Amino acid sequence: MIPGWHPLVVHFPLALCTTGAVALLGARWVANEAVARSLAIVGTWNLCAGAAATLLAIGTGIAALMRLHVGAAAHEAISTHVKWAMLAAMMLVLLAVWRGAGNAQDERPGNAMLILLAVAVAALLYAGYRGDLNVYRHGVGVTGNAPCGDVPPHGADAAGASSPVGCR
Ligand code: HEM
Repeated sequence: MIPGWHPLVVHFPLALCTTGAVALLGARWVANEAVARSLAIVGTWNLCAGAAATLLAIGTGIAALMRLHVGAAAHEAISTHVKWAMLAAMMLVLLAVWRGAGNAQDERPGNAMLILLAVAVAALLYAGYRGDLNVYRHGVGVTGNAPCGDVPPHGADAAGASSPVGCR
């Protein structure tokens, strides 16, 4: 599982949900009715596909976790990442069901949907950022065994010697 499927899969929810939210925002505010309808359809499909992709991200995330042995700092970083990812996934799945099953796909979205969607996408982007910290700050998934805390600047350890990416 090194590097595993998780880093590949996570780009789908991040890209699809973000573009879906932008398209739905456009569908709410664009004056031209035909353009608004097209944006609403694109936004609805992107959101539904993105929400499904968050479930895949969770599955591959759990798989990535199963073979890891990490120290306390990396463990805490992963926990934060997972909490935000779960919150975002839960919100996005509920919003996708609301949007996909509760409305005509070409209908302009309401303000409540857009506000909740903005919160969910912000949580998803933050989860992605925290996921990157797992890898690029703590070396998780790079060595398969990340006992270290923060990596010193430029990969130098306390004695000034250079160290491999993520771990000393
Ligand atoms: C919507 C859900 C999720 C998103 C968008 C997401 C995003 C990310 C990103 C962007 C990375 C950095 C990948 C890299 O640059 O190599 C990452 C790493 C990681 N994530 Fe997630 N993640 C999600 C859910 C989860 C869940 C539910 C778990 C565990 C239960 C998890 C565990 C991990 C682990 C262990 C890493 C570091 C090792 C690796 O990259 O495979 N993630 N995640």
